[in-house]
Amino acid sequence: MNIDGIPTRTLRARPERRAIDIIDQTRLPHALHWVRVATLDEAAHAIRAMQVRGAPLIGATAAYGLAIALNDDASDARLQDAAAQLGATRPTAVNLHWALARMTAFLKPLPAGERGAAAWAEAAAIAEEDVAQNASIGQHGLGLFRQLARRQGTTLNIMTHCNAGWLATVDWGTALSPVYAAYGAGLPVHVWASETRPRNQGLLTAWELAQHGVPHTVIADNAAGILIREGRVDAVIVGADRIAANGDVANKVGTYLKALACADNGIPFYVAAPRSTLDFACPDGAAIPIEERDGDEFRLVHGLDARGIPSALHQVSPREAVANPAFDVTPARLVTAIITERGACPASHEGLFALYPEEANA
Ligand code: MRU
Repeated sequence: MNIDGIPTRTLRARPERRAIDIIDQTRLPHALHWVRVATLDEAAHAIRAMQVRGAPLIGATAAYGLAIALNDDASDARLQDAAAQLGATRPTAVNLHWALARMTAFLKPLPAGERGAAAWAEAAAIAEEDVAQNASIGQHGLGLFRQLARRQGTTLNIMTHCNAGWLATVDWGTALSPVYAAYGAGLPVHVWASETRPRNQGLLTAWELAQHGVPHTVIADNAAGILIREGRVDAVIVGADRIAANGDVANKVGTYLKALACADNGIPFYVAAPRSTLDFACPDGAAIPIEERDGDEFRLVHGLDARGIPSALHQVSPREAVANPAFDVTPARLVTAIITERGACPASHEGLFALYPEEANA
């Protein structure tokens, strides 16, 4: 998608195949800053510190991180240690573990001398597939949006939570891909972007929508309920960090409350995610590990001061006990449909396995 009108991806492999460049998302929306990732430690740090974030982008970065780790040592021990280090960075987004498992299964049978080049090629394949799958999610989501638009006639008001746009993927995004498709197709669309405390990923959503000229409004998370109740929201669409085999969805904390409000008001609640987010080995949401992050993310508020200089303010005293769960689980019964690159399906064991029949025998 575009930055200042220039088509850009969130991750660029360096031509010499020894490093990648990423956008440091901890500095957005106030500053656009690219960071070079040239070592395994830097890749692990980028994921843990959320310089890169969003389930699909975490997966692609981990794949390149593994390739970087093999630059100078492609032994079995290095492969195993690097996968373990990257896999320990964030627990909830299954795309991370999916990408590492795919890379390891592909590389392990190869002689060490061939692994370096093969790892770069496989990481590039993961990144390209992410782009293609997200573009496809956009087209399937557009079909659903068109049906909604026919029903209500005027501008389609779509609410989203966190950032599941192109910044959270290699390109296009998941939840925002249908929004971009709708906007591109000339469907009048407006997005309610929920702030998403404590890390305010909703501001990333606003930033990327602004780059494309998509009309949007930022709201405090707590405003979602009244907007849904007053009929000012036609659908909520979110991404996911892990979808269990029964259709339960782990996504950014606060997602569940929006799903509850939608169910109470008869508003569709869609979840958009590529295959890499589906965890067929995970029976239900109770088995999904929920990341608990540092309390300072909640205590400190980041922004620009009166002089426009990035700064952090203590909103909550360091002495105050805080809890900071980064995700929650929305039960399948609250999800209207899951939209993947293969189409939309009910959030259920039957729905998911009908879209991915090969997983039944995996
Ligand atoms: O903690 P984050 O910012 O990595 O969490 C991101 C989300 O929860 C997204 O909604 C999810 O990864 C889907 S991204 C396309």
